[in-house]
Amino acid sequence: MKVTVIGAGNVGATVAECIARKDMVDEVVLIDIVDGLPQGKALDMAESAPIHLFDTRITGTNNYADTANSDICVITAGLARKPGMSRDDLLGKNASIVKSVTEQFAAHSPNAIIIVVSNPLDVMTYVAYMASGFPSNRVMGMAGVLDTARYRSFISAELGVSVRDIQALLMGGHGDTMVPLPRFTTIGGIPLPELMDADKIDAIVERTKFGGGEIVKLMGTSAWYAPGAAAAEMVEAIVKDSGRVLPCAVWLTGQYGQDGLFVGAPAKLGRNGVEEIIEVPLSKEEQVMMDNSSVHVRENLEALQRIQSA
Ligand code: NAI
Ligand code: 2OP
Repeated sequence: MKVTVIGAGNVGATVAECIARKDMVDEVVLIDIVDGLPQGKALDMAESAPIHLFDTRITGTNNYADTANSDICVITAGLARKPGMSRDDLLGKNASIVKSVTEQFAAHSPNAIIIVVSNPLDVMTYVAYMASGFPSNRVMGMAGVLDTARYRSFISAELGVSVRDIQALLMGGHGDTMVPLPRFTTIGGIPLPELMDADKIDAIVERTKFGGGEIVKLMGTSAWYAPGAAAAEMVEAIVKDSGRVLPCAVWLTGQYGQDGLFVGAPAKLGRNGVEEIIEVPLSKEEQVMMDNSSVHVRENLEALQRIQSA
């Protein structure tokens, strides 16, 4: 199998490395608009293969012909947040980048599955969906895997339990309105509210919602280690046709009361991309949070449409 990663910046390079280190595909192609950057990073990673012991070939390029016949593509091209910026501030600029890279990629790999990472995530996934013309099962966004990883890491630190035993669900858009769901969070099968006070849970939920901003504040740009690992986990689920159930930005057509937008929901991933969107009944309060988050994504989509028609 062949995976293309578009954007050889912080997240793109990390995704490429995480995929290679899993030693599960034949080839990773890293592509960027900057001459020499993907070639240099790919060569550096390839030179780590004898140490990490993987056989995946990694190459870098500025030419989409080299990405031809990819099975999967991860789009990380675009601007990242700087202090004081929200993910939404990236809207217009990143939309034109994501549209352009998707069109060029799709022309060479018409049967691929696309995973979008560029922000604002839910709207950029829509942009890639429209630009590719691919069916909705073959376009998805990465956010929930990262956001639940942050949430699970905070729970692990608070309770002193292994991250391995923490399962969690988080829905909605990738932004401050995201919807972590403590009712669907378990530790070794035990519901979280049995093991942690409501106040502590609330504090962890709040920290998760602003987890991206916490890192931007510390280092002046957005995260890449956890985002890269999260996108690679989605790639692995598709490559291995594993049927893993992961929170992803998926095209909803009525599920969870949302119609005609990409937003986070639990999805079963396999060789066809999104094999199934899993629906569970939400409480009234959870549904209100999901609605609010989806309204925010829709407002962003409308803002983009205004920018594009101006
Ligand atoms: P970065 O600035 O390190 O890398 C972006 C790369 O995109 C640069 O190398 C740049 O040259 C490249 N690029 C720009 N225009 C391009 C084009 N037309 N064609 C090909 N490459 C192009 O940024 P970083 O930190 O890697 O972040 C990338 C994106 O991912 C940002 O939009 C960021 O907000 C988003 N992100 C999303 C996350 C999520 O959970 N969905 C998590 C972390 C970041
Ligand atoms: C993050 O959550 C900025 O979306 C990026 O780290």
